[in-house]
Amino acid sequence: MNQPSAQLVAQTAAYVQQTLQHAEGGHDWWHTLRVWNNAKLIASTEDADLLIVELAALLHDIADSKFHGGDENIGPETAAQFLQSLNVQEHIIYEVRQIIACMSFKAGFDRPSYHSKELEIVQDADRLDAIGAIGIARAFNYGGFKGREIYNPEIPPILDMTKEQYKNSTAPTINHFYEKLLLLKDKMNTPTARRLAEQRHTFMLNYLEQFYAEWEGKV
Ligand code: ADP
Ligand code: NI
Repeated sequence: MNQPSAQLVAQTAAYVQQTLQHAEGGHDWWHTLRVWNNAKLIASTEDADLLIVELAALLHDIADSKFHGGDENIGPETAAQFLQSLNVQEHIIYEVRQIIACMSFKAGFDRPSYHSKELEIVQDADRLDAIGAIGIARAFNYGGFKGREIYNPEIPPILDMTKEQYKNSTAPTINHFYEKLLLLKDKMNTPTARRLAEQRHTFMLNYLEQFYAEWEGKV
């Protein structure tokens, strides 16, 4: 590597901010910034390579397969190409690439064989941003973008969805809480993320309680 870490991280942040300028709300620069901050916080309590954590956090949503014909290789490939253009060491590029490839919840269905402490941290950081007050905002933003109903008491959530069911779902956004968001707390890898997730999880449960009470006109 030719440049010190701080400069490389700053260059990567600038590239990501520029690239995600017109990205949709769920995966915009602000999401990346929150994940980067979460990742740094979690990493401060773990024995991990901070440069790999920061680069992977910054680049994890650089290109979403949903907007590239389902090509799940587009994100890792775009990230690797960017790092290669800065002459970053091959082993760092390899780690970052693997982390991004393993990140998504959908990839979770496929049980990837790669594993590292840095992956655990960035995965936790991304999952934290899917729960709590921000997670709720992102879910309804996504549902609105897809034209979904907010809630429909006649359409129950499907627990233990298959990958295909998950991909093709057109269910109301409230179902997404039961199909994904409320499951994330128990998927956290690190103690710091578990602690933060606990609080955000409780907030979502309270939110749902209030939601149903208002739906039924009880409050
Ligand atoms: P990731 O953040 O891992 O890339 P996704 O692309 O699946 O995850 O989702 C981005 C955001 O949109 C997340 O906050 C997620 O909870 C939300 N989201 C994804 N699928 C749905 C859905 N079916 N209904 C509501 N929100 C969704
Ligand atoms: Ni993300």
